Amino acid sequence: MRVAALVLAAGRGERFGAPVPKAFLSLGGRPLVVRAIEALAARPEIERIVPVLPAADLARWNALARDFAGARKLAEAVAGGAQRQDSMRAGLATLPADLEWVAVHDAARPLLRAEQVGRVLDAAARTGAALLAVPVRDTLKRVDAGRITATLDRSETWAAQTPQVFRISLLRAALAKADADGFIGTDEAQLVERLGVPVAVAEGDVRNLKITWPEDLELAEAIWRQRG
Ligand code: CTP
Ligand code: MG
Repeated sequence: MRVAALVLAAGRGERFGAPVPKAFLSLGGRPLVVRAIEALAARPEIERIVPVLPAADLARWNALARDFAGARKLAEAVAGGAQRQDSMRAGLATLPADLEWVAVHDAARPLLRAEQVGRVLDAAARTGAALLAVPVRDTLKRVDAGRITATLDRSETWAAQTPQVFRISLLRAALAKADADGFIGTDEAQLVERLGVPVAVAEGDVRNLKITWPEDLELAEAIWRQRG
């Protein structure tokens, strides 16, 4: 399996509210985007890693020291766009023709581990499309104007994570259809689902959490320290 990875780091981190872009916040002394790259680079199947950053931060990225694990797999960074889907499109456009698979990962999930990447790669190799997900623990309510309107069936509800892995041709076709329909999704799988192509679920890990709010980074630091 020959895989390219896109590390989406072009968001503004508005909910976090830090003075620096979220991907440059530090976890264990390194930027989140670097931590995400290290986890992906640990897998031999992943040959090339394309960071997608805010256009205004490319210089900041290029000035970063490259003395981290996996830096030799790095491709030139690409400027992202207004929506996550635009950033994914920009990264996808740079992929070389000799690679067949793409793993799309959020820089905001810096605690990813190589064995989780392995599970989602295996599932994609069998089926053509897969993501990491975890069963939802809480009972989910649909709420309108402060009142519950429905209780969702928890046994059927999973929380999607990244990486999400696809044949490059499949993700390109899914993106073309979304663009033609003016559809904007919040993850890649959603675009592939719209083609009617099944997406397999590989076992994720609650520790592969997404840094959204400041308290998520506190939790991530605690998990990081525990790893030793
Ligand atoms: N992302 C991106 N390009 C965008 C928006 C998001 O590459 N236009 C990336 C983010 O950098 C992040 C991932 O997609 O790694 C998940 O997005 P999210 O957690 O929502 O990050 P932000 O959009 O940066 O945060 P916020 O929504 O709070 O502004
Ligand atoms: Mg966002």
